[in-house]
Amino acid sequence: MDNLMEAEAKLLKYNQTHILNYLKKLKTEQKMALVKQILELDFEQMEKLYKCVLENKEESQFEFAPINCIEKKMIDTKEMLEFKKNGEEIIKNDKYAIITMAGGQGTRLGWNGPKGTYSLNIFNEKKYIFEILAETLKKSKEWYDIFPYWYIMTSEENNDDTVAFFEKNNYFGYEKSRVRFFMQGSLPLLTQEGKMVIDEQNNKIKTASNGNGGIFKALKKANIIEEMKSNGVEWVYICGVDNIMVKPIDPIFIGLTLSRKEKIASKSILKKFPEEKVGAFCKRNGKPSIIEYIELTEKMMTECNSKGKLMYGDANFISHLLSLDSIEKISKENLKYHCAVKNGLYKFEEFIFDGFEFFDDMVVMRVQREEEFAPIKNKEGIDSPETAKEIYERFFIDKKYNIK
Ligand code: UD1
Repeated sequence: MDNLMEAEAKLLKYNQTHILNYLKKLKTEQKMALVKQILELDFEQMEKLYKCVLENKEESQFEFAPINCIEKKMIDTKEMLEFKKNGEEIIKNDKYAIITMAGGQGTRLGWNGPKGTYSLNIFNEKKYIFEILAETLKKSKEWYDIFPYWYIMTSEENNDDTVAFFEKNNYFGYEKSRVRFFMQGSLPLLTQEGKMVIDEQNNKIKTASNGNGGIFKALKKANIIEEMKSNGVEWVYICGVDNIMVKPIDPIFIGLTLSRKEKIASKSILKKFPEEKVGAFCKRNGKPSIIEYIELTEKMMTECNSKGKLMYGDANFISHLLSLDSIEKISKENLKYHCAVKNGLYKFEEFIFDGFEFFDDMVVMRVQREEEFAPIKNKEGIDSPETAKEIYERFFIDKKYNIK
């Protein structure tokens, strides 16, 4: 039992003796499974992360400034047509891929399953979130005669259920050979005393997905960056799973980014009110960035410019466009971790937009909220299925989405 000894030594070294005691009580098979997990987990990293929380690095150490945004409706027609044409070339020539980040669980929504398998009633029809996303993407087939590559990021927790759901529903008519699932990583949760926790349901150390910034390492690990390269993909659009108005087939956005010769771009919308739970675009130490709502200071939240507009009023709604080489570059870097307390436990997450800080600048295109943002986050009230349905139906009643 070399492995057992190694696991015991690791637990002792990192002060996790309560797990050692638990381990001793387990039957052989369960013991081996837990030993395997202990050997795989990076205890040193967890120790470092816990120390960082104790040190409590303040955001005020950074210098923040507003970022320049390009208002979509201010782009003149001639330029717009040019952007559209160039963007369409990327899509038509199969140089475009879409990634839906669906690694999070629908806990806030009160849904016990992958968020994309949640259903709403839209125009009196039952529609799953994944179904709505598939239908949006299928527009590309209609308009440009091509199904773009569609990657879906899952997590350990929800991968099997997600894949089975797509199989069962025949990929909602999307071309199956163009869809691929990949799993993001996970990290142990810690008590506020820095201890790992045993999940007594399965006798394993409790872990949770490592945030949507886990996408870069996950893409690398699954060899998808190489796969995309050899398939000729140049641009990758990345979105969340919980916005049913997401607009991934947007050649104008691609064309605008190409025209600015930037490697990364995002769409923004204006915040509804200063305290809205959305990340805000900014420059951090001179680099393009987003400051997440949980980390936004009162001052930055409410600060206005000379025209009385919020200085950090451009909100992130996870509509990112990255060149494949920028993804590769970020995948070689280490993103910082953010810590949140969830159910009394520390949860560590990487945020996708922290990868933007490895670049000097980016394109931020401000779009109309009612055209592209209908989030499903909470069970009821704000950003709930009910509000998302309302926004969706109001917009699609006259089938605007069919206008390219
Ligand atoms: C997110 C944004 C926030 C933005 C808001 C708009 C981040 C870090 N935050 O906040 O800036 O204003 O949406 O709606 O991007 N996900 C994974 N794996 C994970 C965690 C999340 O795939 O480990 C996915 C989720 O499935 C979801 C998206 O990332 O599609 C955002 O998830 P969540 O962490 O809930 O972010 P929000 O707090 O909603």
